[in-house]
Amino acid sequence: MAHAVYPGSFDPITNGHLDIVERGSRIFDRVTVAVLENEGKSPLFSVAERIELIRLVAGKIENVEILSFNGLLVRFMEEIDAQVVVRGIRAVSDYEYELQMALMNRELAPEIETLFMLPSIEYTYVSSRLVKEVCRFGGDVSSLVPQPVLERLQGRFKR
Ligand code: PNS
Repeated sequence: MAHAVYPGSFDPITNGHLDIVERGSRIFDRVTVAVLENEGKSPLFSVAERIELIRLVAGKIENVEILSFNGLLVRFMEEIDAQVVVRGIRAVSDYEYELQMALMNRELAPEIETLFMLPSIEYTYVSSRLVKEVCRFGGDVSSLVPQPVLERLQGRFKR
């Protein structure tokens, strides 16, 4: 059984993330979307809210489950018996940070592989950070996030 983990902050999940979840679910027997419990980073949504939103938009994909984790990703992966880290790469600028993380994870756990996947071209500029910023100032992000996420964002930024 090939079991992959797609880790991230997902604050909130975007169409770009969802695209990677769907692509991953077609390759692996199981995909666990793993939400980092990074309350220190002052996320907009709590871990419970982020998980709820991912469940709403990706929960119907049969081989996808959603969990949260803290501490080292590779330790969490050992606990749930996963072998592959999936990360989306949008542009060359993502690569340097992703390379560092992948090599650090390899140093910590050589048996774990990292697989970089490309999202669909229309999402190559989409990030949770920019989506939040645009929505906060009243911009239209309806083509960049799933509908339940849009509603939650608009509710959060209602003035
Ligand atoms: O969506 P993000 O914030 O880019 O995701 C980053 C994430 C969660 C993949 C990364 O911060 C992570 O794996 N954190 C867990 C701590 C850890 O394992 N650090 C060492 C690996 S570099």
